[in-house]
Amino acid sequence: MILTLSELEKLPRIPRLTLVNAITGFKSANLIGTMGDDGVPNLAIFSSAVHLGSAPPLISLVTRPVDGDLKTTRHTYKNIRQNPHFTINHVHHSMVAAAHQTSASYPDGVSEFEMAGLTPEWREGINAPYVAESPIKMGLKYIEEYHIKANNTIMIVGQITELILPDGSVDEQGNLDLQGAGTVALSGLDTYYKVEFLQRLGYARV
Ligand SMILES: Cc1cc2nc3c(=O)[nH]c(=O)nc-3n(C[C@H](O)[C@H](O)[C@H](O)COP(=O)(O)O)c2cc1C
Repeated sequence: MILTLSELEKLPRIPRLTLVNAITGFKSANLIGTMGDDGVPNLAIFSSAVHLGSAPPLISLVTRPVDGDLKTTRHTYKNIRQNPHFTINHVHHSMVAAAHQTSASYPDGVSEFEMAGLTPEWREGINAPYVAESPIKMGLKYIEEYHIKANNTIMIVGQITELILPDGSVDEQGNLDLQGAGTVALSGLDTYYKVEFLQRLGYARV
């Protein structure tokens, strides 16, 4: 099967977005914890976390279109602009349904933690909630952002301030055991996978 751009554009909206959302392959599923001026702990599932570099340790997130008005815009972006701290929390396979529920558009003042049945966890030095049930998590501080004009999305760049990992999940070489931690992988916006280790290869040389 081959789909050209014009054929893709002719597909009905839902099949088109479902296909395009899955086409880059497996993605990470992460819960983004934030808290803005209203003091309500906010949680939202994001598939767009990407590592940008390790020195300094930078991660980016892409948020969906914003309308320029911080009062009506998405809570995660609004909160990060009001308070630069945020957390990224892996989704364990036992918490997939709760994590997915955080994608619902709850109104201002309602915490997704309560709605999804997840527990906020607070740590000194970071003014954003972690997810207690999450096996692997990190604290970050907003550094900068880029406006992607083609679809009016925003790439947020954050610097890692701390990592919280299960005991024994990292070996001396820094390898992280994601399968042991129970972290899931994601396709599109609705399909979650358990992962299975295949192999680890050495540094490729010419
Ligand atoms: C699996 C999945 C992945 C998602 N990934 C993103 C993402 O990377 N960026 C984004 O802006 N929204 C993403 N969403 C949508 C948000 O979760 C949703 O808009 C949520 O209501 C945002 O919450 P907020 O208003 O508290 O920020 C995703 C939804 C699902 C179900």
